[in-house]
Amino acid sequence: MISFLDLRKINNRFREEFQEAFSRSLDASHFILGDNVSRFESEFSQYCGTKFCIGTANGLDALTLILIGYIQLGKLKKGDKIIVPANTFIATILSVLHADLEPVLVEPNPDTYNLSLQEVKESLTKDVKAIIMVHLYGQLAEAEELRYLSHQHDLLLIEDAAQAHGASCILGGAGNLSHAAAFSFYPSKNLGALGDGGAITTNDSELYEVLSLLRNYGSKEKYKNEIIGYNSRLDDVQATFLSIKLKRLDDDNQRRCVIAKQYLSDINNPKIKLPFYNGSSNHVFYAFVVEVEHRADFTKFLDKHNIGWLIHYPIAPHKQDALHRFSHLKLPATEQIHKRIISLPISPVMASEEVRSVIEVVNTY
Ligand SMILES: Cc1ncc(COP(=O)(O)O)c(C=O)c1O
Repeated sequence: MISFLDLRKINNRFREEFQEAFSRSLDASHFILGDNVSRFESEFSQYCGTKFCIGTANGLDALTLILIGYIQLGKLKKGDKIIVPANTFIATILSVLHADLEPVLVEPNPDTYNLSLQEVKESLTKDVKAIIMVHLYGQLAEAEELRYLSHQHDLLLIEDAAQAHGASCILGGAGNLSHAAAFSFYPSKNLGALGDGGAITTNDSELYEVLSLLRNYGSKEKYKNEIIGYNSRLDDVQATFLSIKLKRLDDDNQRRCVIAKQYLSDINNPKIKLPFYNGSSNHVFYAFVVEVEHRADFTKFLDKHNIGWLIHYPIAPHKQDALHRFSHLKLPATEQIHKRIISLPISPVMASEEVRSVIEVVNTY
């Protein structure tokens, strides 16, 4: 069986280092906002090329707190419209709703699955105050053009970089391409914790100050609450694990790209639409997503041949019961994508024979 993602194998590479780090953390017993969190924040901001990084409890909170932070600073106000990709993971849209803002669901470019520039331009109205670009499946959105557009229209540009740790382009790395970026360290991510975790990166010192308060009950000094805050902190022990894994992230991403290039060159089944990739470091292949017309038939075939798979994601957000208020929207590109996509196994610990087996099976379908 070739599993879709072997988390045990991924993390076993670090077992001894994790055990030592856990022991140190237990000895120090500074579990909340301890030294390990500030050390990881400083390492991760350096990695992303930003001035600041703030750990949070998860990626959804990271996104939500950015938006609430901007409300606190008077740069957004309740009810403002925020452009988000219609085909994202639901968290992007939930963050906007949790902050009492109004999501505007915009169709993707069907080749890259990232926001379509044309669709973004057509969705701009005077009520739109920000754009959240999601680097979906690990591939950077069209940051240069979106930056230009947001500058022209005086909009905030925010990154949902939950799937793109380490992706980079000429402008810089994921996390440093906008006013503020949110990361998730959910275990399956390219940089994954051993539980939940998240972070925000930014170069904006005002936002940094307000976020430092917001994630910790509105408090800098214990039992002194300056604003109405939340409890969303990165755990100290998760921070130590993340520091260990961060050192391997570039190598891991490189391995993902090697596998992706092999899939792209050797999968030659006309029934399978391969993903767009320009061969650069702008993609870190969190997922290798292909399209197939008869998906149920294909998944049965993969099951029969013991190849793991997953669908990122089977139901479009506007078709989810939770978001029924958007169910009237006509989003044909998004709906088509959600019907046809399927993710093949890709991970830094996949053996070359496993990659070859996946190619062989997919080509015989
Ligand atoms: C694109 C995207 N945004 C946001 C999130 C939310 O992250 P978390 O699960 O850590 O809250 C995720 C991951 O789950 C994601 O894939």
